[in-house]
Formats: sequence, C-alpha cells, structure tokens
Amino acid sequence: MSVSTIDIAVKKTTDSRIGQLDPANIQFGKIYSDHMLVAYYEDGEWKQPEIVPFANLSLSPATTFIHYGQAIFEGIKAYKDANGNPLVFRPRDNWKRMNRSAERMALPAVPEELFVEGIRKLVDIDRAWVPTSEETSLYIRPFMFAIDEFIGVRPAEKFMFMIITSPAGPYYSKPVSIYVQDEYVRAFPGGIGFTKAAGNYGMSMYPTMKIKEMGYDQILWTDGFEHKYVQEIGTMNVFFVLGDKVVTPDLKEGTILAGVTRDSVITLLREKGITVEERPIAIDELAEAYRNGQLKEAFGTGTAASIAPIRALTYHDETMELPEMETWDVANWLKKELADIRYGRKADTHGWVLHV
Ligand code: COI
Repeated sequence: MSVSTIDIAVKKTTDSRIGQLDPANIQFGKIYSDHMLVAYYEDGEWKQPEIVPFANLSLSPATTFIHYGQAIFEGIKAYKDANGNPLVFRPRDNWKRMNRSAERMALPAVPEELFVEGIRKLVDIDRAWVPTSEETSLYIRPFMFAIDEFIGVRPAEKFMFMIITSPAGPYYSKPVSIYVQDEYVRAFPGGIGFTKAAGNYGMSMYPTMKIKEMGYDQILWTDGFEHKYVQEIGTMNVFFVLGDKVVTPDLKEGTILAGVTRDSVITLLREKGITVEERPIAIDELAEAYRNGQLKEAFGTGTAASIAPIRALTYHDETMELPEMETWDVANWLKKELADIRYGRKADTHGWVLHV
C-alpha cells in the first residue's frame, strides 16, 4: 500500500477550538489541535485508522500499559512556509525509530503509510493550528500503547496507535543549566536507552525533581558503570565544541536516543566541513577542555528543544560556565540553517521535508 492510498476515515469536529489559540502566546504542550488519529491493533493486524475530534479516552483500569508500561512515543514538528503551506520535518526517520522502540518493547510495527500519511492528513485537516511565527511549530506526538485488559504480566496482544498535535513555542525559554548526574542512571547497554519508551521519561522524574530543587534545569546522564562517560540530557542529545571540533556521544552501546535532530546536525556540520566526532566523551575530558579554554560551546538537540544552548555544566563542585551564546559560531549557524530548511526558506537538498 502506498502512502497516499491508505484509507483513513475522517470525522470532523463541528465545534473547533481554534479560537482558543493565541498566536502571540504559544507555550509548549498546553493546547491540542481539533483532531487526533486513532488506530487499533487486534488479532495480529491493524484495523482501519480514523481521524476524529480530539477527545478523552475511556479505558479499563486493568489496561496493561498503565501497569506495565508497554508504551512508546515520538516527537515531530510541522512548520509553515512563507505561503502558509505546512512542512513536516523528517517524519520517515521518526517512523523508523518508532519501530525500533516498538520491537524492543514488544509492540507491533506501525506501517509507514499509517504513520506518515496519518501525520500528513492530520496536519492537513488541522493546518490552521500550525503557527507561523519564528520559533513556533506544530508539535506532532505519535504514540502507541498496550490495551489488553489483563493484570497478569505478559506481552500484550491489543494496542492503540494515536497521533495528537499541539501548537508549540520554544521548549526552553532560556539557556539551560545542567547537572552532571553521578548517582542515578538512565540506561545500561542491553537496556532500553535507545527507545522512546515512556519509562525512560518516568524514571527521570525523581532525579530531575532533585536537581531542580538545587537550581538546575536538566540532567546530563552518565554511564551506569563508572559515571564517567556522558550519555544524553534525557529530553535532548548533547554536543560540545572542543577547539575547532564538534563531539557528541556515539550510539554504539544503545544507551542514548538516535535523535533525528542529532542526525540533522551531524549531517549539516559535516557538509560544512566541520569535524564531528561521535565517540565516548569522558566528563573529565570536558572539564580539562574547560580549564584550557577549549570548551567553546555546549548545546542540546531534540525535536522539542531544537538547538538548546547550555549556559553551565556542574560536575561535583565544579561549574563550567560557557561563554555568552551570542559569541558561538556553531550552534548559532546550526539554528539558522535548520530553521531555514524547516520553514522552507532554503532548498531541501536532503529530502527531509514532507509537503502537506
Ligand atoms: C522531543 O524532543 O520530541 C521529545 O520527545 C522530548 C520531550 C518533549 C519528551
């Protein structure tokens, strides 16, 4: 079945909430567009997907994902070009990643046409919800979860795949202050660190609450054996500019998320002739580079956060203060380059953009 031939039934709302959207004040994740996509998986196959008015769900209290966490999600963004046409950034890459998460969490694979055409059609129907101003977008949240009604522990057989969308402003409103975590652990080799499983986010709440009480914004996770090598920030991958090179943790151990923004950043930097090293990065190496004046920039990347500058990194009792972001060459160039592609101001030479 090709992307355009999948049959998605549509039931439109007669009571649009678009009047509640204030284009001058769009925060992240607070308001949802008029419609959502719903598809059920049962008896080993996907049933016909539907786009219906956004509404609450009604589920049995015995629904398995609530108890055992067989639940995964994705994050994608749609932008509007100068003519008001929506563009979706790299949805196929998120589809591939969702299926890697699905396999590890024993959920069924989502067909490409259900995922990509589902997004295209939903964004088309709710195109009025895609904001136009710089730094805004429509955040698209596909997710899947197990819906067997059964309290026993076993891989489920029934699932729901859904897509909701939400007009979004910046995820972080200012440069973030990062605490390098050396007590709690996000991921081990062989675990689920590479997936967008709900549990990866659930486990981070308590350690994040603790560091917020100490005045930091986010955690930089380190490996679970020695707390020596940095992994990711949890809502973002992480990049450092050391001298004239850019370094980021590699994906080999399967402990960090293969970010689509991460991949876009590496691609764009390499095309520009900048050396990008994907490799283990010891926190001690960063501290030494900081003391030698070689730690020039540090930033997180992610769909929600895009390029998020880090203003300080605290490890034990040392705080590495980064220079003012205005002086940064790499992150500022990337931010503009990515925005130009996403808002359709620059030719899409990589085939990253899906026109709605
Ligand atoms: C994203 O960047 O899309 C994420 O999933 C991060 C966060 C909002 C959970």
